Order: sequence, then C-alpha cells, then structure tokens
Amino acid sequence: MDFPVCGFSHCRDVVIALSKAGGLGVLGTARYSPEQFDIELTKIDEALDGRPYGVTIIFPTPKADDDGANDPDSLAEKIPDRYWHYVRGLADRFDIPIEDDLKHVEPTQGVVNAFPLTREHALAMLEVTMRHPVSLVSSAIGAPPRDAVDELHRRGVKVCGQVGDPKHVQRHLDAGVDIIVATGTEAGGHTGEIASLVLTPAVVNAAKGVPVLAAGGIGTGKQVTAALALGAAGVWMGSAWLVTVESDLPEELKKKLVAARTSDTIRSRSLSGRMARQLRTPWVDAWEEEGAPSPLLPPLQGVLVKGAQAGMLKRGQENMMGTPVGQIVGDLTAIRSVKDVVLDMMSDSIAAADRVEAAFADLR
Ligand SMILES: Cc1cc2nc3c(=O)[nH]c(=O)nc-3n(C[C@H](O)[C@H](O)[C@H](O)COP(=O)(O)O)c2cc1C
Repeated sequence: MDFPVCGFSHCRDVVIALSKAGGLGVLGTARYSPEQFDIELTKIDEALDGRPYGVTIIFPTPKADDDGANDPDSLAEKIPDRYWHYVRGLADRFDIPIEDDLKHVEPTQGVVNAFPLTREHALAMLEVTMRHPVSLVSSAIGAPPRDAVDELHRRGVKVCGQVGDPKHVQRHLDAGVDIIVATGTEAGGHTGEIASLVLTPAVVNAAKGVPVLAAGGIGTGKQVTAALALGAAGVWMGSAWLVTVESDLPEELKKKLVAARTSDTIRSRSLSGRMARQLRTPWVDAWEEEGAPSPLLPPLQGVLVKGAQAGMLKRGQENMMGTPVGQIVGDLTAIRSVKDVVLDMMSDSIAAADRVEAAFADLR
C-alpha cells in the first residue's frame, strides 16, 4: 500500500480502483451468494495482479437466528403476520412494486440485505475467501471465530475486527485480530453511539499496541490527518466511494447523495434490525412513526424488508431510494474517480499536517 487508506465497498470496480490507486480495497459480502462472490473475487484477482485487497464478512452475534434455522424460508416463517401486513401497507402507500409472496423473494442483485446475515452465510463466504489471494479479512459486528482467525493466519492473511465501543476491543484481541477498526457513530452502515473523536483514542488505548484504523466521518484529508493525530495507523472509509465514477449505485442515487446535507442521515434499525446509519427517506421515517412495529432483530428484519427494497430499486423512485451512508455525505459534492478521491485527499492531508506543524512551531 502507498497510502494508509482502506476502503469498504460492495462494488468490485471500487475495490480494484482503490487498490490500484495505492490504498486497500475491501469487498463486502452481504449482497452476494457464495457463487457470485467467487466470481467477483476472481475478477478482482485478474485485475489486481498481486496488489493487496481485502474482504469483509459479517459475523453476527447470535440473536434471532440462534436456534440454527438460517435459511431464508424458515426465517420468513418466524416473522409474525402483522409485520408482513405493515410492509404491504407501506408498499401500497409508497407505490412500491412487490411480489405477491413476500416470504419467498429471490435475492436481487444490488439489494443491501439480499442474503440473511447469518453465521452460516458468513462461514460460506469465508470458505470462498480462502480460495483467493486475499490479504485482509475484516470481521464486522461480532468478533471473528478464533479457529477462523488461526486458519487465516496459517495462510498469511491478516484479520481485522470492527468495533464501535472500546469495551468490545478485548473480545477481538482474544480472537487474535491483527488490526482493529474503530467505527464512530458518524459512519454509514452499522454503527454505535460514540463519535470518532472520542472513540479512536479510546480504542487505541484499549488495543494495547495492536494497530487501529479510524472509520466514520472520514472523507477529506483533514480528517485523515486528524485520525493519525488521534493515534490511528490509518483510515477506513465507506461512504466516500458511493459517489465515485466506479461505484455501481444507480446514477439517480449518486446525484441524491451529492445533493444531500450532513444532517440528511439517520440511525435506524429498519434496514437490518441493527442500528445502521443511512440516508433518510420516507421509508425509513415510516418505521419511526407512531404505531409502526418495532423493527425485528437481525436477521429477521432484513428478510422482512428485502422484497420491498428490491421493488424500490426496480422502480427507481428517486424519493424512496436510500442507502447506508454516513454524515460525511454532506462533503461529497461531486462524482469523481476513486483515484482522484485518494490523491486529492492525501494532498489535503499533507496540507493539514503542515498547518498543524506550523501551529506548534513556536511552542517547540
Ligand atoms: C453502503 C454501505 C454499506 C456498508 N456495508 C457494510 C458491510 O456489509 N460490512 C461492513 O463491514 N461494513 C459495511 N459498511 C461500513 C463500512 O465498512 C465503514 O465502517 C463505514 O462506511 C465507515 O464510515 P464512513 O461511511 O463515514 O466512511 C457499509 C458502509 C456503507 C456506506
């Protein structure tokens, strides 16, 4: 790597462009079947020709799925009828095209929760990952299983764990991770309540020398310099890549993100059942209104809403289109190439470091 910049994306072209630009692209698994994931990784291998890249796997802490029934059909059967009625009602209200049988919707490419976030899915993705020259495996939500970490280490693969609270660091250290990602509340996607300015140094302290990457709210060089000043070894970004030329997000949604302000995101459980920061839309608001059922625990909420999400994507209704995205969205004001984002950010970061140095020059 030339720059201390890791980037999460579900889109392989972003991953390729970032690793080629000198950072480290990390492909998300949540949207893919194991078969499709294998195809994506093969294309990345061909394009990168030995340059490093990573993958991130969501290892859920057992909750709603802890009785072992993990296939989408049995999960759908666990969902009370009033929830299906609520989703149908929302589909009517917002004119979202949905299947008659919402319980058995085939996974749709591009839908964030196309596959249930189960341990079974995570292990299948891990198995595919091991067939490719992946340099880094990141574990989101829960700590990675110790035996998986040991196996990855035997293959020379580094492992990182994502935390949103310093109290979770030890769990990841016990699992044997090499790197910790501290994800502040500003971040797009699953996120906790602690802001990066407080979280990063607290996680650095708790990590006892294990390198930490700062995530959440990073999109300019000033934030990269700030993250390094807080003790991070580098940064981990997700939202900024959504509005790049390489991103496979629909063009209407990219434009919507470019126009969005810092305050246009909201943390909501409506997407997966876990708090995730996302663009505020009428659909997200409907889960917060009076009389709305409380979102289900993961992975059930994802199973419940995936049919409606597919409908929103198909119809391309601009006002309903949403995505996980962080508060940095207010600073994403143009659609640029991944390479331009990285190079501009690094020169901005150096300028910010120079300013800090000048400010301290007289004190030395
Ligand atoms: C659209 C989107 C989807 C995400 N999905 C995942 C995911 O599946 N797995 C994961 O580990 N992190 C996911 N994240 C979180 C990122 O890994 C990262 O923590 C976050 O984007 C950093 O904050 P930022 O958005 O302010 O850059 C997602 C983020 C975004 C924006």
